[in-house]
Amino acid sequence: MALVVGVVAVFFPACGDAHTQGVTSDPRASSCASCHTTQADAWSSSRHAKSQGSPVFQALLPRVAAAWGDDARARCVSCHAPKHGGDDGIGCVSCHAASGNTGEGEGKLLVNLDAPVSGPFDDAIATPAHGSRRYDLLESPVLCGTCHQVTGPGLLYEPTLTEYRASPAAAGGRTCASCHMPAIDPGPIAAGSAGAEGRLRARVNHRFVGVDPPWDAPVDVRAEAAKDSAALLSSAIILDAVASADHGVDVTLTNDAGHAVPTGVTFLRRIWADVVFTDATGKQATHDAVVMLGAIPTSAGAPVALVTDADAVTPNVLAPGASMSVHVAPPSELSLPVSAVVRLRARAIDPGTLAALGLAALADQVPTHDVGTVHVVLR
Ligand code: HEC
Ligand code: HEC
Ligand code: HEC
Ligand code: HEC
Ligand code: HEC
Repeated sequence: MALVVGVVAVFFPACGDAHTQGVTSDPRASSCASCHTTQADAWSSSRHAKSQGSPVFQALLPRVAAAWGDDARARCVSCHAPKHGGDDGIGCVSCHAASGNTGEGEGKLLVNLDAPVSGPFDDAIATPAHGSRRYDLLESPVLCGTCHQVTGPGLLYEPTLTEYRASPAAAGGRTCASCHMPAIDPGPIAAGSAGAEGRLRARVNHRFVGVDPPWDAPVDVRAEAAKDSAALLSSAIILDAVASADHGVDVTLTNDAGHAVPTGVTFLRRIWADVVFTDATGKQATHDAVVMLGAIPTSAGAPVALVTDADAVTPNVLAPGASMSVHVAPPSELSLPVSAVVRLRARAIDPGTLAALGLAALADQVPTHDVGTVHVVLR
């Protein structure tokens, strides 16, 4: 026993055992950032960094309290602002010091700052700031799913982890991180760690690209984020359109994502297809929203803008691996030959919902993404 301890002391004289020492530095992301600049720069423009500050989230809170009570409001805040390590949002230690959970979903995450940080490497290197170890939970969808699986309060229902488990992507070994944290060029992962050895490590993107806009960010940052979101959407929602026997169009959507499309707060999201028919004289007929995805809150059966005014929610999402088709009849006012352009579009938040929240002025910060276009000639 004494011999083993002696050996450890020789290898890690300054900081005890690299594999058992907890976080000795300030656990807030701002402190991790002093050494891990690449990860912190990316994370700071992610929704995780701002999970408490979104104007949509803030505008919903008083309505949640009025409709579903103060305990419901407290549950929203406890998941969006868990205060792990003192951060306002979902900080580095929310994932890198996560040790397990007290149950699936609902934000029941356990974070242990006395344990070494979890990383993806088998050959962890010691630093006085923290010990490091490889810990399987970090790369597992169970970590993400501890927060990305919500049942209540009120009518909230966000079964992303359940959807993921039933997806072809999960069966094929993809994880949440493999799609939402794609690999970037290998490089040093901490300031100074390139050092004498010139150590290059595999790295992943910490921007956690989704669909929500970076509120109030400079115009160039918003444009960059819009490009990333459009690329993510196009990667997995596949649009196809073919001429049908009656000279109309059959429009098909296929979901290649790792969960339903949309997932999460589906009552905010809208994904739809428009068809524009044009005849030889240039005359046009437009059919808007021939397909529309995104949950619809209803009260006594009629659609309402806000989930907090609803008594039910129609899910209206496309399951992972599934396809759906609609037939669009040819416009009778046009004569053949007619061409059709089918456009698939997506917006993170419906303008009607923004207006109902008193946030109409923010509508220009929510871009409409072009997700796919198909041209069809109807003979
Ligand atoms: C004083 C600088 C410093 C600070 C502060 C720091 N780290 Fe590190 N960290 C390092 C060094 C050095 C490495 C090892 C680099 C290597 O393996 O090339 C490392 C490695 C890591 C790894 C990879 C672990 C592995 O081997 O798989 C993670 C994850 C990590 N740190 C997270 C954090 C988090 C989270 C914080 C804030 C709580 C933090 N670090 C604060 C210097 C620091
Ligand atoms: C939502 C969870 C999550 C958050 C928040 C998060 N990380 Fe990570 N991080 C991961 C995962 C997962 C990996 C490993 C992915 C893989 O290799 O498959 C990782 C990898 C890393 C690595 C290894 C090198 C690399 O770039 O892949 C470092 C260092 C690191 N994170 C530091 C940080 C720091 C610093 C912060 C805060 C600024 C942070 N992480 C925030 C989940 C997170
Ligand atoms: C501690 C809770 C927690 C954990 C763990 C967590 N998330 Fe999140 N995540 C959130 C919250 C809360 C939001 C919403 C932030 C906001 O209000 O904008 C979010 C937002 C996101 C978004 C952005 C969605 C959008 O539409 O822009 C993506 C993508 C995401 N998370 C992926 C992941 C992945 C991948 C993991 C695992 C590696 C993970 N999350 C782990 C709580 C968490
Ligand atoms: C095969 C790749 C893939 C996997 C695996 C995957 N996602 Fe996604 N994710 C996407 C794509 C593509 C989108 C954009 C389409 C959409 O809006 O749903 C997306 C969107 C999201 C969003 C934004 C909300 C939305 O639907 O608009 C969140 C949050 C999210 N994913 C979380 C997760 C979590 C958590 C996991 C693991 C349980 C996961 N994803 C697994 C590809 C993937
Ligand atoms: C157990 C964790 C959890 C709870 C509880 C929770 N959320 Fe979320 N919330 C998330 C996650 C994860 C996302 C990211 C999913 C997505 O982007 O579709 C999210 C995204 C959102 C978004 C979109 C991003 C933003 O901030 O604008 C809003 C709005 C939101 N939640 C409001 C609420 C409200 C209101 C409540 C309480 C009624 C609530 N949430 C309760 C985990 C939670």
